[in-house]
Amino acid sequence: MHPGLFVSFEGPEGAGKSTQLAQLAARLDTHGTPHRLTREPGGTPLGTRVREVLLDPTLTIDPLPEFLLYSASRAQLVANEIRPALNRGEVVVCDRYADSSLAYQGAGRGLPVNLLREITLAATDGLTPDLTVLLDLDPVLGLERAARRGQPDRLEQADLDFHRRVRTGFLHLAEQTPARFLVLDATRPADDLSDVIWQVVQARLP
Ligand SMILES: Nc1ncnc2c1ncn2[C@@H]1O[C@H](COP(=O)(O)OP(=O)(O)OP(=O)(O)O)[C@@H](O)[C@H]1O
Ligand SMILES: [Mg+2]
Repeated sequence: MHPGLFVSFEGPEGAGKSTQLAQLAARLDTHGTPHRLTREPGGTPLGTRVREVLLDPTLTIDPLPEFLLYSASRAQLVANEIRPALNRGEVVVCDRYADSSLAYQGAGRGLPVNLLREITLAATDGLTPDLTVLLDLDPVLGLERAARRGQPDRLEQADLDFHRRVRTGFLHLAEQTPARFLVLDATRPADDLSDVIWQVVQARLP
């Protein structure tokens, strides 16, 4: 289908996605493998504007429009960045992708999963990662880590229940397509995780 390798990182806030993405990028650099790093939402001029809207704390965004905004960013990112890089044979590493929508807006917010899948299929033209690294973490720990990084640390019960549903949603996705997922315990030391991820990625390099 394409000569490249598409790797996504998924997991809750504070799980270590960005940390592991940076470590993988460093290893790909050392290895001399052409690669492209990107993130959702974002990664294109449109995606960057959509990201500002999605992350604006002064806006109230209902679950469906929230999902559609993510999908708009994703469609532009796939068409303009991810597909062309994969067609050039590059490794594309994305910080969150469609699984986040299924976990957050589906399992978390309760939007019908069939609808999410159908719109995602259209937005991505069916592009699925070759490998998805799921950094699994108790949301209490993840939100504590994110808080230490300087984000608000209000842990209300409703938020916690939501994040627990998201975690379960991610694990459920991994159970449904085990061949695509590498599920890792995100409480392990970052360097250990990085070693495992590199072994698996290296074995699949184009
Ligand atoms: N394996 C680990 N063990 C302990 N702490 C970690 C580990 N990996 C990352 N951290 C720390 O946890 C915090 C969150 O990490 P990081 O920003 O990589 O998470 P993230 O998944 O990208 O979060 P977000 O979803 O908010 O972008 C950082 O302070 C980071 O240093
Ligand atoms: Mg991050």
